[in-house]
Amino acid sequence: MKKKVKIPQHIAIIMDGNGRWAKKRNLPRVFGHKEGAKSVREITKNCAKIGVKYLTLYAFSTENWKRPENEIKFLMGLLKNYLDKEKKILIKNNIRLKVIGNKTKLPLEIIKKIKEIERITKNNTLLTLILALNYGARDEILNAVKNIAKDIKRNKIEGNKITENLFEKYLYTKDVPDPDLLIRTSGEMRISNFLLWQIAYTEIYVTKTLWPDFRKKELLKAIYDFNKRERRFGGI
Ligand code: IPE
Ligand code: IPE
Ligand code: MG
Repeated sequence: MKKKVKIPQHIAIIMDGNGRWAKKRNLPRVFGHKEGAKSVREITKNCAKIGVKYLTLYAFSTENWKRPENEIKFLMGLLKNYLDKEKKILIKNNIRLKVIGNKTKLPLEIIKKIKEIERITKNNTLLTLILALNYGARDEILNAVKNIAKDIKRNKIEGNKITENLFEKYLYTKDVPDPDLLIRTSGEMRISNFLLWQIAYTEIYVTKTLWPDFRKKELLKAIYDFNKRERRFGGI
């Protein structure tokens, strides 16, 4: 009998390698970002189709502000374009959008669009698409600590009653289950400040494939690999 393939409930992806994809073709880096946006659409569509419930995509890190101004501008433009075009598609396909990260540093126009789409799609149930924008795990954890300190001062919580469950309520990912599978494209063996708290027991899959080349076939390969893993969570 054929064994049923386990579909991860939550997949998180470090979408890396856009610049190298363009460089290989003697094109400016931004062409890689443009092609990468197509992968975002294809991977979202396919995750929804196969029954993934949460998809988190690392799109812009707190460290990515170090990049040249023109590249940052291009990425923000691409994001605006993406939000404009995706709005209808998300609504039509019952997909909820959620953004994690420090939104206040993003261009005002983008903040407004995010708020609007988050509001319109908040009751959608097929898939939750989580975009990590100006996201850094250290920033997220520090932000949680500051808000906990405030709530202790206001007597809303007691300092000696802080549990893992309570702490998670202060993270950007509150109410989102931890990722089952973390994918990083382009071969880099590092986490780059992504979801440090949440990936404590996540299975990691690194592929040399560059993000613009990461499409349906590559996604299924990662899921088959995930199916070979034995998750013990510290037990035997
Ligand atoms: C990932 O691709 C996209 C973002 C970080 C915004 P890169 O732009 O990091 O591509 P490489 O790593 O330089 O190839
Ligand atoms: C990680 O990629 C951030 C995103 C994918 C948004 P980077 O290209 O910024 O990471 P490093 O610099 O290689 O660690
Ligand atoms: Mg990179």
